[in-house]
Amino acid sequence: MAQSEYVFQRVEDQKELERLRMIELVFDPASRRRLLGTGLQAGWRCLEVGPGAGSIMTWMGEVVGPTGQVVAVDLDPKFLSEAERPNVRIMRADIRTALLPQQSFNVVHARYVLIHLPDYEVALTKMLDSLKPGGWLVLEEPDFSASRGITGGEQELASLRKVNQAIEHMYATLRMDYALGLKLPALMQRRGLQHLTVENDAPLCAGGSGMAKVMKMSAKQLGEKYLATGVVGQSDLERYCRLADDPNTWAIYYATIAVSGRKAVG
Ligand SMILES: C[S@@+](CC[C@H](N)C(=O)[O-])C[C@H]1O[C@@H](n2cnc3c(N)ncnc32)[C@H](O)[C@@H]1O
Repeated sequence: MAQSEYVFQRVEDQKELERLRMIELVFDPASRRRLLGTGLQAGWRCLEVGPGAGSIMTWMGEVVGPTGQVVAVDLDPKFLSEAERPNVRIMRADIRTALLPQQSFNVVHARYVLIHLPDYEVALTKMLDSLKPGGWLVLEEPDFSASRGITGGEQELASLRKVNQAIEHMYATLRMDYALGLKLPALMQRRGLQHLTVENDAPLCAGGSGMAKVMKMSAKQLGEKYLATGVVGQSDLERYCRLADDPNTWAIYYATIAVSGRKAVG
């Protein structure tokens, strides 16, 4: 297994919880729709990989009810202490090595997790092994190469481009792909998943929107890492945050590529 540290591992907890809650606020509606699109219902067994602050895990527990179960695997489930329910089991584990039952889940879901793993194929194998024949895999990962500033001051737009280059550089140094989302459809096709549904969600957002807030919060948490790439300076980070706050600016911050596919029966 490739040794790597999760980029948000050593950031300040309270700020990280706020960032994860903002991600949930912005992206949960689409994730729920995609999960319901698989037929998610009472009695199903679900695996949530990297639940973060846990809203999708908790919601799936409510949907599957007392006759179903949700297993949630996170490297560091520190934000989930109050989320345990009788039908929700939280495991502290790395998805690449977690001891999971084989062919057990009706649906396996991960959002913004594989991008953090240089050997995401190992994690994918684990997820597929744990999926029942006929079960659904739903993956949602970013494509930061989709970023594009549209309206704003020239300097702010230049800083947005530089911050995005820093993001690319940071992930590349860690042997991770900042556009991993784009690879998901071919990856899942190659692994034999069927009935693929692919969405490329690249919202064009005003400063101050939920998406802009998420990216500003990430820049605050990862500022030192962005600076360490040598691609951006402190003034770029400040201009990026100003752009993300200003409702008169418009930008695509990143795209989410979401793919659902069904494991073959037999
Ligand atoms: C960016 S957060 C996304 C959280 C949540 N999925 C969401 O979209 O709201 C990534 C989560 O994956 C977890 N994680 C990272 N690497 C992991 C691994 N190898 N195995 C299990 N969980 C991991 C992190 O601890 C964190 O909770």
